[in-house]
Amino acid sequence: MKIQALTFSPTGTSARVIEGIMNGVGEETGRDVALLDLTLKESVERTYDADDVVLLSGPVYGGKLAPIAKQRLGGMKGAGTRCIVVAVYGNRAFENAVTDFASFVEERGFTVVGAGAFVGEHSYSTDETPIAAGRPDAADMEEARRFGRAIGEKIAAGTLAKIDAAGLKDIPAPAESLANFKAFVMDYQRQQAESPRVYLPVVDEELCNGCGSCVDVCPTGAIAADGIGLDAAKCIKCCACVKECPQGARTLYTPFAKVLSANFNARKAPVWIV
Ligand SMILES: Cc1cc2nc3c(=O)[nH]c(=O)nc-3n(C[C@H](O)[C@H](O)[C@H](O)COP(=O)(O)O)c2cc1C
Repeated sequence: MKIQALTFSPTGTSARVIEGIMNGVGEETGRDVALLDLTLKESVERTYDADDVVLLSGPVYGGKLAPIAKQRLGGMKGAGTRCIVVAVYGNRAFENAVTDFASFVEERGFTVVGAGAFVGEHSYSTDETPIAAGRPDAADMEEARRFGRAIGEKIAAGTLAKIDAAGLKDIPAPAESLANFKAFVMDYQRQQAESPRVYLPVVDEELCNGCGSCVDVCPTGAIAADGIGLDAAKCIKCCACVKECPQGARTLYTPFAKVLSANFNARKAPVWIV
């Protein structure tokens, strides 16, 4: 039996959460849990045995598991293999991401025995428009560890069993925030229908010193070797380049940042079941 963790995590929050969970599992079981980070790798072709345990994490994009995370994890095959799925979201809502993640792994032969929704700093968070800035923080990491320990206890006792991921419920934001966001989205969609506009990361060439960090962290290889050129068709707007740039030369303007910052600033706690 092996315990394996996999993540896809452009800005590192899904990776940090799964590491916290892995630590808890390791503490309870005394076993090493290996992490395979697929952020900069192609899809994995891997088959797991019936007695293995697989821990997965990935970001929520638009209320679902990010499509690229599915692409990268798409080569996994289980044989009834026990699997824990963890969606990491930016404090707005995880909506269908956890059930989406669960169905995705079930279709590939896994049995979902645990699920979690944790909060990570929103990809669009900036100093001017903070959204869950700094998360997962110490309290989140402690909760990740607690979740891991609960998984580890059940592995040790042989009692990991199928759960219903739909049992994890979003923590509702105040009604006024939800109404503000809904009105914003409707207006945004109307504007996009009238005159579509794509928001992409841009470089301030005065600030850019050509260090290449952005090129190295881009999960889709969308940034040209000079750190300036961008293949718009490849860019998934994950903001890895923005967050990694040591010069602050990269920014992504999106009208979502302000409305998210204004309406989803009440801290949401992680939720999990095992
Ligand atoms: C395109 C896009 C869509 C997103 N959609 C949501 C969402 O629906 N709900 C939410 O709370 N956060 C959303 N986020 C924020 C991310 O889920 C969050 O920042 C997550 O921690 C990023 O994970 P990573 O650090 O592993 O990349 C979105 C981010 C991006 C880039």
